[in-house]
Amino acid sequence: MTLLLSGLLTAPVALAAGDPVRGEKLHQDCLGCHGTELYAPSRAKVKTLAALKKEIERWNDRMNPKFSKQEIEDILAWLNRDFYKFPP
Ligand code: HEC
Repeated sequence: MTLLLSGLLTAPVALAAGDPVRGEKLHQDCLGCHGTELYAPSRAKVKTLAALKKEIERWNDRMNPKFSKQEIEDILAWLNRDFYKFPP
């Protein structure tokens, strides 16, 4: 019992940094409604990294199956690397 508990407590909970290469592939599932033209600086409404993450989470609610937290990090990393370019 003690062993089992301590195993649970030390389980890794931190998310790995987003992987933009994975994110680009995952994002293909988002293309049903819009392409990447929304993310162009001239059109993008999202102005901060935090807002971008919220936006991905908001649209993820419509996805079935939904992306995991790690997959959202990956999509965030890709969108930010190739389009939004917000400072960390
Ligand atoms: C059900 C249709 C639909 C799906 C599925 C969808 N989106 Fe969208 N998305 C929209 C609409 C509509 C807007 C708002 C367009 C506008 O503001 O002109 C939007 C806006 C956005 C924006 C904000 C762009 C900006 O800066 O103005 C982001 C980021 C975004 N979507 C990401 C995603 C991601 C990531 C996924 C996949 C998890 C996804 N979307 C799936 C319909 C969708």
